[in-house]
Amino acid sequence: MGEIKREGFANKIGAIAAIAGSAIGLGNIWRFPYMAGSNGGGAFLFVYLICIAILGFSVMMAEFILGRAAQRNVVGAYGKFGNKNWKIVGYIANITGFVLLSFYGIIGGWALKYIYLSITNSFSGKTSTQLGAIFSSFIGKGMQPLFWYILFMALTAIIILSGVQKGIEKASEIMMPLLFGIIIILAVRALFLPGAKEGLKFLFAVDFSKITGKVILSALGHSFFTLSLGMGTMVIYGSYIKEKTKLENVALQVIIADTLVAILAGIVIFPAIFTFGINPAGGPGLAFITLPNVFLKITGGYFIAILFFALLSIAALTSSISILEVLVAYFVEEKNIDRKKATIVTTIVMIMVGIPASLSLNPSRHLIFGGKSIFDWFDFFTGTLMLPVGGLFVSIFVGWFLDKNIIKKELKDNQLLMKFLSFTLKFIAPITVFIVLINGLGIIK
Ligand code: PHE
Ligand code: NA
Repeated sequence: MGEIKREGFANKIGAIAAIAGSAIGLGNIWRFPYMAGSNGGGAFLFVYLICIAILGFSVMMAEFILGRAAQRNVVGAYGKFGNKNWKIVGYIANITGFVLLSFYGIIGGWALKYIYLSITNSFSGKTSTQLGAIFSSFIGKGMQPLFWYILFMALTAIIILSGVQKGIEKASEIMMPLLFGIIIILAVRALFLPGAKEGLKFLFAVDFSKITGKVILSALGHSFFTLSLGMGTMVIYGSYIKEKTKLENVALQVIIADTLVAILAGIVIFPAIFTFGINPAGGPGLAFITLPNVFLKITGGYFIAILFFALLSIAALTSSISILEVLVAYFVEEKNIDRKKATIVTTIVMIMVGIPASLSLNPSRHLIFGGKSIFDWFDFFTGTLMLPVGGLFVSIFVGWFLDKNIIKKELKDNQLLMKFLSFTLKFIAPITVFIVLINGLGIIK
């Protein structure tokens, strides 16, 4: 219920754990390598890091400020400080979250399935090609991926139902460091693979001729995706941050942790790609085909695989709950629907929206339009287009419209930070996002 939620995160550590829990997820381990792989490797990483540095911090701060000042969900926050039209921006954020979670849950389902495959020792003795076949035949089946998808969504709903704060905070505090530890072990092992040099070169060497409008657009979109920006997650989580906590500290630590995990995941995956002859532009299956190859090479790989996919699933859950929370908080706070009903209904509708996306992964079902499956469209529409649009609006709102005294209070009168944010939110963020969107969409050449 409303009153429980407004208790917020217990303390600064809990807030950082929960917010890092939202940020660190499939975006780092599944989406980052696949995006980098299809967008020129180092060229993508380069633009991505620039986006994180110049936009990530400012937009995250804008969402935190808006949420903590309003003590509301994203629609309510815009409604509290802005006119009716601004509420529309909140609704758009809700729709983005809706579509985003319906495809995020599908990949969450894959992660769960891969725990099961690890436990049953299904990778043992397989060649790289066979591991690829395991993945594509699994996602192409009808009921199987749906079963794991629904299971993942049900777990997400259960956590949201059973009082988020204690659940998220506790789980994140324990699991995040563990995930970090395992990725470091894997990264060190990957550095000894024969393809390490080539893989690292692909990831880190920037070929400037590869930086196209599409690469820039993808990198921009992914920088919002990975930091959970542009759809109200950081507004609602910001509203749970204690009054006395410094928002900028939370933002900085979360951004550093998230970026580290993505780069570490790249250090695991790209050396393996070049060692096992996998195509880096292979698309959404990349991590799921590559990682089992690495586990097969490691002593104790059987256990590490189980642990890894379990942690990946948990990392995915601490993100998916943060998406569902946006919608549930909206229904509870704006529509006075009780938390239980809001959670169950939202989850069920979302599952239905995701079903065609999951089914579209089998080409023989003809759910492919304009060269992209429904799944790819959901990913592209949310992760590449709508999150930057949401980020654009929140920057404009906080930069131009929100009362300066509110910002002053939320930033504890930190003059330098206020000047910095006023510049980035007023000008840099809106202009950059606007130009990239227009360019990437091919409207201007
Ligand atoms: N940041 C999450 C990840 O990297 C995904 C996410 C996007 C979560 C948007 C919330 C909102 O996996
Ligand atoms: Na992330």
